[in-house]
Amino acid sequence: MNTWRALSLLALLAAAAAAAAVAPAARRLAAARPSPGDSGCIELDSARLQNIINGALAQLEAIAAIRERPDGSGPKPEGERVLPADQFPNSTDPGSGLWLGSQASKWTAGYLADCYWRAHALTGDPAWVELAAAELPGLEPVASETDNHKVSHIFDSAVSEAIAARVPGAPLQQYQRVLQTAAGSLAARYSDRVGAIQSWNDIGDPEFDVIIDSMASLKIMFEAAAVPGGDPAWAGMALSHSRKVAEEHFRSDGGTYHVVRYNPQTGAVVWRGTHQGYADNSTWASVQAWGVVGFTHVYNATRDPAMLATACTAADYFLQRLAEADDGVPLWDFDLPKAVQPWKDSSAAAIAASGLLRLGPLAEEPLYTAAGAQHVASLADGYLGWEGGGQRVAAVLRNGTFNAPKGLHSTGLSWGDWYFLDALSTLQRLGNSTACA
Ligand SMILES: *[C@@H]1O[C@H](CO)[C@@H](O)[C@H](O)[C@H]1NC(C)=O
Ligand SMILES: *[C@@H]1O[C@H](CO)[C@@H](O)[C@H](O)[C@H]1NC(C)=O
Ligand SMILES: *[C@@H]1O[C@H](CO)[C@@H](O)[C@H](O)[C@H]1NC(C)=O
Ligand SMILES: *[C@@H]1O[C@H](CO)[C@@H](O)[C@H](O)[C@H]1NC(C)=O
Ligand SMILES: *[C@@H]1O[C@H](CO)[C@@H](O)[C@H](O)[C@H]1NC(C)=O
Repeated sequence: MNTWRALSLLALLAAAAAAAAVAPAARRLAAARPSPGDSGCIELDSARLQNIINGALAQLEAIAAIRERPDGSGPKPEGERVLPADQFPNSTDPGSGLWLGSQASKWTAGYLADCYWRAHALTGDPAWVELAAAELPGLEPVASETDNHKVSHIFDSAVSEAIAARVPGAPLQQYQRVLQTAAGSLAARYSDRVGAIQSWNDIGDPEFDVIIDSMASLKIMFEAAAVPGGDPAWAGMALSHSRKVAEEHFRSDGGTYHVVRYNPQTGAVVWRGTHQGYADNSTWASVQAWGVVGFTHVYNATRDPAMLATACTAADYFLQRLAEADDGVPLWDFDLPKAVQPWKDSSAAAIAASGLLRLGPLAEEPLYTAAGAQHVASLADGYLGWEGGGQRVAAVLRNGTFNAPKGLHSTGLSWGDWYFLDALSTLQRLGNSTACA
């Protein structure tokens, strides 16, 4: 693709965002339209897109080949590289580039299932449905666990997509039941006093923390409420939670805090800061991107204009700060002092791509769609697990950074892969004409 043109688009977006901080997002972005003569197209043609999709599917096939099925079905892989049935891939090993796994009760456990669902969306091949469905028995018992808000991440990725896909013969009622159990577990962590779902720590803990990551998969509350037998209160809780995050997590510049801590007795904010970002007042790139995705999905579910405005605020800030990146992929935190742990985070760009490609049509703003396509092109230019120099990585994307302060950086990440596959399937659906602003 044409990097110069791509970067000039980002620079224009950034300039416009900075110049008119109070204008509505759509107007601000309209002012940034590339001038006549510059087509503004992202050069990710259908041949290149198909090439990326094929590579990504090959990476997933390689996981399936070494995966012991949690439901006991399927081939029994042998050898050192087996991924045991009770281990769900979360990140790749920095040394070998091969997948590591963690238990079903970790927030990352559902992403492999959804990568399989995305592969089905990309190909229509029922073999992927079988693989995805085989993951569910290993995850299902976790749906009733209430020790933190993990069930939203796990069952958005593993089950919500399964319901939406409406595959003939799929156990739809079982999926719906699991989704409702998960929604009930989140509801158990909701506080009327705070008006939000507690993300971490036991229910009743004096530190009532809400993390912006909670927005990512909140849509399961709306979906579960709409299923026969669902509790309509779940949708109200999710909307209240979203409004609270929109009010309290955003700084006036559109950047976000990772964590807001409330006093559960009074509902008052007692602290704002970070857990894995660079500093309490910095903006951790991947959670800013989760704001884009999360508010987009909540707007789609509610059509509440404030949710759309918040999604646009999150997106505008992400694009404005991304203009500082040399290759269209951000460092793990937007506020890193020069030369401090300068690791890239491909997952942040992938999450943003998934959100922007959905937000563009909803906001009727082609520049968001073009920016989402741009993120995919930038990732494809230097971050594919099977391409580029150096070590091959078993993930679709390399250079994901999850917790740089703890040394977890520059690996494949299962959720980065999921969001990237989601962006690829949206692009495939839209066709490449929409990659032009
Ligand atoms: C994935 O699991 C492994 C082993 O349990 C752990 O060392 C690693 O930090 C986990 N990665 C993430 C991103 O949580
Ligand atoms: C964060 O706070 C520090 C210390 O008060 C300040 O130097 C820095 O500029 C702030 N950064 C941002 C992004 O606001
Ligand atoms: C990308 O990941 C590789 C390991 O796969 C690492 O050596 C390199 O430093 C990372 N680059 C950046 C810019 O984060
Ligand atoms: C909005 O929600 C509908 C119904 O769940 C879904 O089909 C559609 O894909 C969603 N749109 C976006 C942009 O995510
Ligand atoms: C995408 O663009 C390429 C090159 O301009 C063109 O040949 C191809 O037909 C387009 N595909 C779609 C689906 O629009």
